[in-house]
Order: sequence, then C-alpha cells, then structure tokens
Amino acid sequence: MDKLKYLEELKAKNNAIILAHYYQDPDIQDIADYMGDSLALAQFAQKTNADVILFCGVHFMSETAKILNPDKTVLIPDLDAGCSLADSASTKEFKEWVESHKNSTVVSYINCSAEVKAMSDIICTSSNAEKIINSIPKETKILFAPDKYLGQYLIKKTGRDLTLWNGYCQVHAIFSLKDLIKLKVRHPDAETLAHPECDETLLDQADFIGSTTALINRTQKSSRKEFIIVTEPGVIHQMEKMNPKKKYIPLANNEGCACNECPHMRLNTIDKMIYTLESKTPEIILGEEVMRKATPPLLRMLDLSK
Ligand code: 13P
Ligand code: SF4
Repeated sequence: MDKLKYLEELKAKNNAIILAHYYQDPDIQDIADYMGDSLALAQFAQKTNADVILFCGVHFMSETAKILNPDKTVLIPDLDAGCSLADSASTKEFKEWVESHKNSTVVSYINCSAEVKAMSDIICTSSNAEKIINSIPKETKILFAPDKYLGQYLIKKTGRDLTLWNGYCQVHAIFSLKDLIKLKVRHPDAETLAHPECDETLLDQADFIGSTTALINRTQKSSRKEFIIVTEPGVIHQMEKMNPKKKYIPLANNEGCACNECPHMRLNTIDKMIYTLESKTPEIILGEEVMRKATPPLLRMLDLSK
C-alpha cells in the first residue's frame, strides 16, 4: 500500500495528529496537519483534542507538548532528535547556576529540557522573547539560558542587563560571515533574513530578524524578489510554496556548504513516523514532579503570548 495512504489510516485509527516544525524534510512538511515555529506548535498542542500527538521536531518540542498534555500520548519518530542548545544546559549545572544567582528571574528559551523548564520562572521562544523580557520589572535581575546569541540580541533590543548561559545552536553558529558578505555583494537587491540564534556579526548584516514563522511570512510581505536565508534551509520549502517565483539563497556554513541542515531535526523520516504510529513508540514519558514544575513557566509564556 502507498506509504502516505497507510500513514493517514494509522492517524485515523489512533485519532492522531501530526505536528511538524519547518526544519523537517519537505515530505514530512507536506503531510503534517499543523506546522509552526516553536511558539505556534506549543499553542497548537495546548488546544488539540487528538488522543495522540506525533511530533515531528526535536525532543524539547515534544516534551513541551507532553507537559501541556499530560493525559495524551506524545510520540516522536526518533528519540535521538535532540538539540545542541538543550544539551548545553545539564540539570545539575543549571541548578548550580540558578542557585549561585539568588534573587534573579530565570528566563529560559524553550530550547531546553523539561528539567530546566521546571527550574525556570518563565519560558520564551524566538517570537516572543523580547515581549517576555519587557514584561519583567526593570529593577529585576534576569538570568537567560541557554542561548547566548539570542541573549546578546535581547540585550541589544531591550537594553536590559541579562546574565547569559554559555550555549549556542550548532547549526546557526557555523554560518560564514565572509560568505554572507560575498552573497550580499553578488545579490545587491536581496533582503537578508536571519534567525536570532545567529551571532551578532551575522545579525548586524540582516535586514530582518525573526522566528522561522516570521521569516517565512516576511518573504510574503516583502516586495523584494530575492532573499538570503540565514537559518536552517528547511524554511525554504514553505517560502517556495507561498511564492514560487521569488528566489531564496541559503547561506553557506564555514565549510562552504549551503546545506546547513539540523542533524537532529533531519533524523525524522516518513518510515520512522509509520513505525512510531504502529508501535506507539518512542513515547515521551516525563516524571510527574518535573511536569508539575515545568507547567507554570510554560503557561506564563502562553498567557503573555495571546
Ligand atoms: P523557531 O521557534 O523560530 O521555529 O526556532 C526553533 C529552532 O530550533 C530554531 O533553531
Ligand atoms: Fe536545536 Fe539548532 Fe537544531 Fe534548532 S537548529 S533544533 S536550535 S540544534
């Protein structure tokens, strides 16, 4: 039987829904029931009435869906789909860091483990980080983890003095500034779109900075015909679907390769999705206490993002 048809049958049989991030392979993006950036995926997970969520993204995203849906089955096609940012903040080190900075509000980027979320006061994503920081009283000290580049960007945008954890995204950290400048010279009419997980030197060259959803929407709103894309190239699939006549140029990494795919996101495949729905494994299982403690910081973010 045709694989996609079979997947549809499995979904119907299990009252399952497929959520996918924009960094998934195009074939997964095309069969997802809902696609979004980290915030939109969390918001969607909060309101779905499916019994099973098959989450095509990385581990921290599936954990978020589970925290918001303790009674639902949340599945991920490959349990090894992690994230270098989440991995940079171990539970033990993060706990010590928080304890050594008493009287601070702890803001964690959603790209972190459930345990780190449970030790945070509020969560943010790339699309609401500025708003979340601005919602905290001016005199309050803020710890921001785990993305130092997003943190540096927020310091610039909000004028706040954030104490930063030293983590970074392995995909966004290796874009080549030299190649970006060369591309801008070669394509003087192109608009440069960048994700705030990039370092400051790249962001200084960008015309527009935003979450994956914001970058995709920008290509629709902008009157420009060419775009230099400074994020994981998975977003280009949606950009091409929305505006096939426009040109999207992915930026190369320091090795000269313009295929900066996230090695974690790209572990998910259609075959693994089928196996996962057939066997209901791998399933996201979290301890009760971690879920209970991680819920308020996530809900605080969702409330502020309405
Ligand atoms: P978005 O929330 O912008 O989709 O970012 C998720 C991510 O992991 C970027 O690397
Ligand atoms: Fe994590 Fe970077 Fe992959 Fe996003 S692109 S999931 S931040 S490793």
